[in-house]
Amino acid sequence: MCGIFAYLNYNVRRERSCILQVLFNGLRRLEYRGYDSAGVSIDASSVSLPPLVFRQEGNIESLVKSVYQEVDATDLNLAESFLTHAGIAHTRWATHGEPATKNSHPQSSGAENEFLVVHNGVITNHEVLKQTLIRHGFTFESDTDTEVIPKLAKYVFDKSNEDSGDTTVTFSQVVLEVMRHLEGAYALIFKSRHYPNELIACKRGSPLLLGVKELTEESSKGSLFHDDKYPTQNGNPRELFLSSDANALVEHTRKVLVIEDGEVVHLKDGGVSILKFEGDKGKRGVLSRPASVQRALSVLEMEVEQIHKGNYEHYMQKEIHEQPESLTTTMRGRLIRGGTCKAKTVLLGGLKDHLKTIRRSRRIVFIGCGTSYNAALAARPILEELSGIPVTMEIASDLLDRQGPIYREDTAVFVSQSGETADTLHALEYALQNGALCVGITNTVGSAIARKTHCGVHINAGAEIGVASTKAYTSQIVVMAMLALAIGGDAISNQARREAIIDCLFDLPNKVRDVLKLDQEMKDLAKLLIAEQSLLMFGRGYNYATALEGSLKVKEVALMHSEGILAGEMKHGPLALVDESLPIVVIATRDACFSKQQSVIQQLHARKGRLIVMCSSGDATAVSLGGACRVIEVPRVEDCLQPVVNIVPLQLLAYHLTVLRGYNVDQPRNLAKSVTTE
Ligand code: F6R
Repeated sequence: MCGIFAYLNYNVRRERSCILQVLFNGLRRLEYRGYDSAGVSIDASSVSLPPLVFRQEGNIESLVKSVYQEVDATDLNLAESFLTHAGIAHTRWATHGEPATKNSHPQSSGAENEFLVVHNGVITNHEVLKQTLIRHGFTFESDTDTEVIPKLAKYVFDKSNEDSGDTTVTFSQVVLEVMRHLEGAYALIFKSRHYPNELIACKRGSPLLLGVKELTEESSKGSLFHDDKYPTQNGNPRELFLSSDANALVEHTRKVLVIEDGEVVHLKDGGVSILKFEGDKGKRGVLSRPASVQRALSVLEMEVEQIHKGNYEHYMQKEIHEQPESLTTTMRGRLIRGGTCKAKTVLLGGLKDHLKTIRRSRRIVFIGCGTSYNAALAARPILEELSGIPVTMEIASDLLDRQGPIYREDTAVFVSQSGETADTLHALEYALQNGALCVGITNTVGSAIARKTHCGVHINAGAEIGVASTKAYTSQIVVMAMLALAIGGDAISNQARREAIIDCLFDLPNKVRDVLKLDQEMKDLAKLLIAEQSLLMFGRGYNYATALEGSLKVKEVALMHSEGILAGEMKHGPLALVDESLPIVVIATRDACFSKQQSVIQQLHARKGRLIVMCSSGDATAVSLGGACRVIEVPRVEDCLQPVVNIVPLQLLAYHLTVLRGYNVDQPRNLAKSVTTE
C-alpha cells in the first residue's frame, strides 16, 4: 500500500540524471505496493530555489515519461551535478482521493514547496487537522489525508521561528512536533527547502528501512548513530537510502536499519541520528526533547537476483516456477533424517523455548488474511491430528470486528507473507492485550509481525514481488506442517505417520517440479476458458483451502469471477448454479475424502456440469466418467501436503488466463501487495 523511497548522496558527485534514475529504480522495485500514481522531488539548480516536484497519474513508467518530456520542454539540465543532494519518491495506492495528479505525492506545504512529504499509511485525524489549518489560513488542493502533514510542518516551522525570533528550530524538531499531532498509521519522508540536503524519516505502524552505502572501507568502521552530535564522517562519501522495503535497497547495499515505531531518523551531513518520539510526554505546542537511540546496522540476507525477473516475463510466473527452490529453502536445516536415535524429526529454532507452552494451550487460533489465511486453513487438519489441540480459524478483520474471544490459554498463530498487513497486525495487538502466546509465520525478517510476536518461524521463501501470492503460500503450508510435527512431539502412536510426512517433505520439491510440467496443459485449458464469466472450484478436507486459493488467484489476476466451494456444501445451495455452460474444477486427489468427491463428480455430471477434475496420477479413468470430464493428473503425495502440489496447476491456470485475457499479471487492478491500511 504505497511505496516510499529516498536517496541522499553525500560528498559524492552525482548528475541529476543519475539521481533521477536511482529514484525511478527505487520506485520500480516498490511498484507492487501501488501503481495508481507516482511522483518525485529533486533540487533545482540552486538550493535557494524551491525543490522541483514531478507527479503523474498512472504507473512509474508514465512518471518517467512525463519527467523527460518536462526536461525537454524546460531545458532542465540533466547533466548538472550535485556533491550532496536529497531526493524523495512515492508510488501510490489510492486510499483518500481518486488516482489523479493532484492526489499524488510528494504532497506540498504550498506554492514554494517549503515542506514536501511522501507517505505510506492513513492519517485518521486528517479532517480535524485540516479544519484547524484552514482556520490558520492554509488552503488545500488535494483530496488526500497526507496534505495536512507538509502544511502542519510549515505551520510548526513558521510558529517556532515567530516564537523564538530566529530560525534555530531544527528539521527533526519540526517533524517531532508534527508527529505529536498525527493519528493513524504512517511512514513518512520529509524534504524541505529550509533544510537543503537533509531528509527526515519517521514512522508509526507502516514499514520503513534505512540503507547505508559506504563509498570507502574506512568510513564503515565504528559506531554509526549518535544523538544531536552528528557522527563524524570525516567527509567520507556515502549514499543513504530510505525505503518501504528491502527490495529497493538490496541493489545498493546490504547494510540496513529497520526503523521502529516512534523513531525520527535525521539524515544530515552524511550522518544519521535517531531520535525516539516520546509521544504522551511532550506537551502540545512545545517542542519536546526526545531521547536518542543507538542501534547497529543489520545485514540484509537477500540476493539481488531475487528482485529481477530473470528469463521470465512476469514476477508471478517466475515465482510459480521457482517453488521447488523456495520450498527447499523453507525446509533447509529444519528437517533431520538419519543419525542414531530419533531418526526423523523437525527443528524449528524460533519455537524451541515455547513448544511446551504451545502444547499446553487450550486451543490454537490461526489468524491471517487472503492467501495466508488459506494456507493456514490447508494446514489446520494436520495440526489438529498431530497435536490433538482444537484449532480454530480467524480472518483477522473479522476477529477484530467481532472482538472475538482470545484467552491467555490460547496460542495465536499469525500468518503473513509481508508481516505488515494492517488487519493481521491489529489482530496481533489484540491477542497480545488478551494475554495469548503469539507466534508469527512470516516471509519478512524484521517485519512488524515478526518483531511483535513472542516467537515464530520465517518461511524463507525469498522476495515475493508479484502481487498475487504463490510461492509464499506453498512455503507457509510447509512451515505449518512442520509446526504440526514439532508440536505433535514424538508419540509412538503417530511415529509412522510423522516419518511418512517427513519423507514426503524431503521429496516435495521434486513433486512440485513434476507438477510444473503441466504448464502447457494449463495454458491450453486457459485458452478454453478465456471467455468465461465464472469458474467454480469444489474441494473438501485438505483441499477446501486449494479451492479457495485457486479461485482467489483466478479472481484477483485474471479478473474472472471464481468461487471456491466446500464440496460438502454443494447440495445446500451451490448445486443450483450448475448447468451445461458453467465450468467447474473438482479437486479429487487421493485422500480420505476421495470416494465422497467421486460421488460429487457423479452428481455434478448428472446436472450436466462442465467438469475439470484434478486427480492423482493414474486415477484418470476412475474420475473422468468415460471421458466426459477433462482431467488434470497430479503427483500423489501425503494427504496433508497434497495442497502444496494441487495449487500449482491452478496458479498456472490463473497466470495463463490473465495473460491471454490481456491483463497485467503483476499489477492486478485495484490491488497492492502489503495491505498496510485497514
Ligand atoms: C492474494 C494475496 C493476498 C494476501 C493478503 C495477506 O494473492 O496476496 O490475499 O495474502 O493480503 O497478505 P500477507 O500475507 O502479507 O499478510
